[in-house]
Amino acid sequence: MDERYVMGDSISPAEYMGLRRTVEWGEFPLEEAQAGLDNSLIWCIRDEGRAIALGRVIWDKGYVIYIADIIVHPDYQGQGLGRVLMEEIVSFIHSQLKPGYKFMVSLSSAKGKDGFYKKFGFISRPNDDVGPGMFRWFASEEENS
Ligand SMILES: CC(C)(COP(=O)(O)OP(=O)(O)OC[C@H]1O[C@@H](n2cnc3c(N)ncnc32)[C@H](O)[C@@H]1OP(=O)(O)O)[C@@H](O)C(=O)NCCC(=O)NCCS
Repeated sequence: MDERYVMGDSISPAEYMGLRRTVEWGEFPLEEAQAGLDNSLIWCIRDEGRAIALGRVIWDKGYVIYIADIIVHPDYQGQGLGRVLMEEIVSFIHSQLKPGYKFMVSLSSAKGKDGFYKKFGFISRPNDDVGPGMFRWFASEEENS
C-alpha cells in the first residue's frame, strides 16, 4: 500500500454514505448507518484524512462471520487496496481462531466481483455440496423524516 495511505478502524456514517455513493450503492438514514457501524469491525483506508476504502465485518463472536461493504473509491481502484482490505480481514479472522474453533465466513458478492473474492479462498454457491445463498430486503413504506 502506498506510504501516504493510513489504515484505521473507524469511519463516520456520513463518510460511509459518501463511499457507498461513489460506487452507486443505495443509501439509508445516517442513524441506521451509525447503528451498523457501531456493531461492526471496521477497516478504513485514508488518503490525507479522506476515506478511500472500507471493509466491514459483522461477527456474532461464535462461528458466524459476515463480510460486508468492501468498497474502494473508483479513483483508487486497481491499486491493490481491495487486496489490502481482504488480507487484513482474513488475517484478523485467523487470529481469532482458538484451538478446536471454526468460523463460517460469508459474504454477498456484487455482480462480476466473485473473481475478486475467489482470490481470497471464497467459493461460490450453489455447488455440489451446498444450495444457493438467499436474501430478502425489508424496507419501510414510510418516508424518512
Ligand atoms: C471489488 C473492489 C473492492 C476491488 O478493489 P480494488 O482495490 O480495485 O482491487 P485490487 O486492486 O486490490 O485487486 C486485487 C486483486 O483482485 C483482482 N480483481 C479486482 N476486481 C476483480 C473482479 N471484478 N474480478 C476478478 N478479479 C478482480 C485484481 O486483478 C487483483 O488481482 P491480483 O492481486 O492477483 O493481481 C472494487 O472494485 C470496488 O470497490 N468495487 C465497487 C464496490 C464493489 O463491488 N465491492 C465488492 C462487492 S461486495
